[in-house]
Amino acid sequence: VRSEERLTWTGASTKLLETPRPMDSNKGMYGHVLVVGGAAGKPGAPSMSSLAALRTGAGLVTAAVARSIQQTVALTTPELMTAALDEAEGGALALSNVSPERLETLLKKISVLAVGPGLGTEGETPAMVQRLVAETTLPLVLDADGLNAFKGKAELLDGSKRTLVLTPHPGEMATLLGVSTKQVQADRLNLARKFATEHQLHLVLKGWRTLVAHPDGRVAVNTTGNPGMAKGGSGDILTGIVAAMLAQFPHEVAGAVEAAVYLHGLAADLAVQRRDERTLLATDTIAHLSDALRYRVQDED
Ligand code: APR
Ligand code: MG
Repeated sequence: VRSEERLTWTGASTKLLETPRPMDSNKGMYGHVLVVGGAAGKPGAPSMSSLAALRTGAGLVTAAVARSIQQTVALTTPELMTAALDEAEGGALALSNVSPERLETLLKKISVLAVGPGLGTEGETPAMVQRLVAETTLPLVLDADGLNAFKGKAELLDGSKRTLVLTPHPGEMATLLGVSTKQVQADRLNLARKFATEHQLHLVLKGWRTLVAHPDGRVAVNTTGNPGMAKGGSGDILTGIVAAMLAQFPHEVAGAVEAAVYLHGLAADLAVQRRDERTLLATDTIAHLSDALRYRVQDED
């Protein structure tokens, strides 16, 4: 198969968002996202992922973070619910003393998991992530240190029929593959498609012209986004946007992921229209999600 074949663009998937919400909507129809991340001292990343998920339309969002930062995260957004993860020695986030039954109860009302923002890689944390992946079947977005937990162990991602979305930046992709970042960037399209088909998952390979590769070999190229996004926090909000789209469109996974990537970049593009792009903050991008959703609607008229 020539790599030029079956290439589409992410913007086409925003048609998912054209159908208005029914007037008798309730929050249960739009899913409950659980963001798992936030080791001690890292409240920003899970807070931004969670806020982005709420702004993208998830019905409920809970952030499970280290007990020592739970209140800090809770205070960023009154609409956000929080849960505490126990901290083991050295700052690792522990789930080891949680029985499978308790884990099931914790996840009972959750519709999508987003694991990684601010998570860290200390001690037992990678094992906790591996356990979450092995013992749950919920749709799952893995980002940042959620991905790094599978360093040299990508095969642990195989075999489950769950919806799985990975959102690596080129460095994280390189870690997963055991190659250099330069090698990833030199062959983005082929590597993304190969990884998605081999491991039967949706892969968002980030950076300028983000690629969204699907398990069936289709790949969509993203056309939105700008260099202002090259700043900490941009990736964390994408995680929340993807999770919220999956929560709302559980039966249109490929389209939901593509639309998320497109909206993320478009919101950032709109946010820098009347300002210098160097000043862009991830939270400004979140604030422009509404404009991004409306821009698309006007555009289609
Ligand atoms: N053009 C378009 N989009 C861009 C550009 C650009 N020039 N630069 C960055 N972006 C987008 C990417 O496509 C991606 O969606 O911004 C986002 C950046 O995501 P990350 O690289 O994951 O950055 P972020 O997570 O915000 O910060 C880095 O998180 O992943 C961890 O270990 C990592 O601590 C680091 C931190
Ligand atoms: Mg990141």
